[in-house]
Amino acid sequence: MGCQFDQLINRRNTHSRKWDGVLELFGEDNLIPMWVADMDFRPPEAVVRAVTERAAHGIYGYENKPANYIDVVIKWLRNRHEWEIEPGWISHSPGVVPGLALAISALTEPGERIVIQPPVYPPFYAVIRDNGRVVVENPLRCEKGKFTMDFADLEEHFRSGVKAMILCSPHNPVGRVWTEAELRQLEQLTAKYGVTVLSDEIWSDLAFPGHKHRPLASLSPEMASRTLTFMAPSKTFNLAGFYLSNVIIPNPDLQKKFCSQMQRLGLTHLNFFGLVASEAAYREGAEWLDQLLDYLQKNVDYTISELGKINPKIKVIKPEGTFVLWLDCRELGIPAEELNNFFVCKARIAFNDGMVFGPSGYGFQRMNIGCPQVVIAEAMERLAKALS
Ligand SMILES: Cc1ncc(COP(=O)(O)O)c(C=O)c1O
Repeated sequence: MGCQFDQLINRRNTHSRKWDGVLELFGEDNLIPMWVADMDFRPPEAVVRAVTERAAHGIYGYENKPANYIDVVIKWLRNRHEWEIEPGWISHSPGVVPGLALAISALTEPGERIVIQPPVYPPFYAVIRDNGRVVVENPLRCEKGKFTMDFADLEEHFRSGVKAMILCSPHNPVGRVWTEAELRQLEQLTAKYGVTVLSDEIWSDLAFPGHKHRPLASLSPEMASRTLTFMAPSKTFNLAGFYLSNVIIPNPDLQKKFCSQMQRLGLTHLNFFGLVASEAAYREGAEWLDQLLDYLQKNVDYTISELGKINPKIKVIKPEGTFVLWLDCRELGIPAEELNNFFVCKARIAFNDGMVFGPSGYGFQRMNIGCPQVVIAEAMERLAKALS
């Protein structure tokens, strides 16, 4: 008997970006959508129950934030990440990307340079540039299929006066769960040059067994005072459509600036369905999450094994967390500019083109494996045919 994650749920005609947005974005229909990072799984039943009950009440007026929401977030961080935070450190934003935009506009000046580490989640580029700031790239290094930070290059940027960076931890798309030793090195450098870190930890709950996510701000009070941590139940429990994320800011001065910006934009209220869903997920979703991680790990192993059989020239960067795979297709012999077209038109699969993750993404594709394994099997069949 299959498990809950084996269930095939039709998402077509639900306004799903992943499924219904394929034609518009890829110019073709009937592709297997393995791109934007949400999953094709139902969240924990407690979430569905809580949202359904609240919906059935039928009155949707203005609401207060439930006091126990803060409580469940604190407990979640304590239990999953051994991070003790105070209630007053928690703010919110309508999604992590809006939170990053708010932080950039509140804490940096127009024209200021901000470091990111490509290949990386494309909106990092957009959120910096759209706010009139300047992107500084500190590309990750890749040796023998493992990505690491280039600290020497990073220090050069800090030495030249850069005072802010966006960290992606765990890292999308390369799937690294940064180790404590790596984060300590980052801590040292940011302390030496007084750099503020916007730490995007949206993937923090999705580290595979054997890898431990360490919140950057939990390293020391000094690091905490220079870090804004962005976390959310959206990736963890597949709740992206609720647009709710938590922004943890221990430094009262930084928090005041962040919250003033929220206020200026009239963004202080939250969608109550997001709160209801997230509270239920944090309160009752731990066991579901452990089962999910087990399923995702199996999907990773299965995909790596299948790709190895189909064409070992596609090299998979083995992820330590997340539900995306970074596929190195440079040896396939297909020019980088034509690669996505090959997957779309010949294999009929919609991956994210690696190019949009920065120049070092040329020749790569990002594959979302947050789906029932039979869907991956079908994609592998299509790919085998396309490559034969
Ligand atoms: C690193 C990272 N940050 C943020 C987001 C999106 O966050 P939100 O939808 O809350 O804006 C994603 C989604 O894939 C992501 O990978």
